[in-house]
Amino acid sequence: MSVLQKSAIAGIGFHVPERIITNSDLTQWMETSDEWITDRSGIKERRWIDHDGGASSLAIQAAKNAMEDAHVLPEEIDMVICATITSDYFFPGISAQVQEALGLNHVGAFDIKAACPAFVYALSVGDQYIKTGHSKTVLVIGAEVQSTALDISTRGRDTAVLFGDGAGAAILKPSDNESAILSTHLHTEGKYLKSLWCEGPASKFNPRISKEMLEEGRQYPYMNGREVFKNAVKRFPQVIQEAMDANELTMDDVAQIIPHQANLRISQAVAKRMKIGMDKVYSNIHKYGNTTAASIPIALTEARNEGKFQRGDYIILAAFGAGFRWASAAIRW
Ligand code: COA
Repeated sequence: MSVLQKSAIAGIGFHVPERIITNSDLTQWMETSDEWITDRSGIKERRWIDHDGGASSLAIQAAKNAMEDAHVLPEEIDMVICATITSDYFFPGISAQVQEALGLNHVGAFDIKAACPAFVYALSVGDQYIKTGHSKTVLVIGAEVQSTALDISTRGRDTAVLFGDGAGAAILKPSDNESAILSTHLHTEGKYLKSLWCEGPASKFNPRISKEMLEEGRQYPYMNGREVFKNAVKRFPQVIQEAMDANELTMDDVAQIIPHQANLRISQAVAKRMKIGMDKVYSNIHKYGNTTAASIPIALTEARNEGKFQRGDYIILAAFGAGFRWASAAIRW
């Protein structure tokens, strides 16, 4: 049997819009308060796009930053995987725009629609392409523009205050040293589909969205916050433990957990359940809110830049979100 080629993250980067929306800014559009949002989520501000560029515009800039970090030229990239639920258009997905804007060769490029854990899903797919020898330089992006999808009014306040826009990217390359994506773990439980979803526009309906649906707000995300919270605090520890068990690691071996930035209270509950301090669980949600598929690569880049982990350290990426889906990746940096 041939030995599979390990892959490693050769470079990372992110990009967020310049426009900062503070909790106080939100009070001009809805009945809410800085206190309610901070207490429930830890979020103080988020970035909302101020032009009509869509998720691709953020993805392209994040990709450029990751390519520079990895010292990779456009002609070297031979696969593009974009994780997003907020593509610029209904189809064909933002990866086609990324390929064109970055001047890449006519390589494979596709989108993954797996909500908050989508970056870990995309990383897992990219890892398989390198392991099997199919690809040599994979560009993986998580990018979202959530602000144009939200009901920015008192009716939509339970979700509108939580989400932000942004993008993060990673370059995967074969590794001939200790740095590697050691394992990835992906899970789904579709019975909770309607606990966190956006119903339309949808192929299930003809027309895909009606005046009645628009009036009822069925084009906006719906979330059963308590159901999400309950499941997230159960699944995060499970999938982090799964990543450690698969690699015979204990929590003492792990330098940093980089969780999807869903909610500070979720991260705190996970830390408590796993009996670790918050110094081991990275958080930047106060600055960006929940940026869905972009949150992990943004957090990963900021944690690396802040020196939270060094070359040779073990880190674990972990996510939970719509589907419900949850996922983790154990990485030797
Ligand atoms: N500002 C002020 N009040 C708000 C509000 C807002 N933005 N959003 C909702 N409320 C009100 C509700 O109308 C409700 O009022 P009522 O009691 O008079 O009916 C009340 O606040 C609900 O409060 P509570 O039940 O205490 O909310 P909660 O503790 O369940 O917190 C969430 C709500 C959404 C913050 C919480 O459920 C949560 O964090 N869930 C997980 C969400 C998440 O991480 N999603 C991302 C998934 S990847």
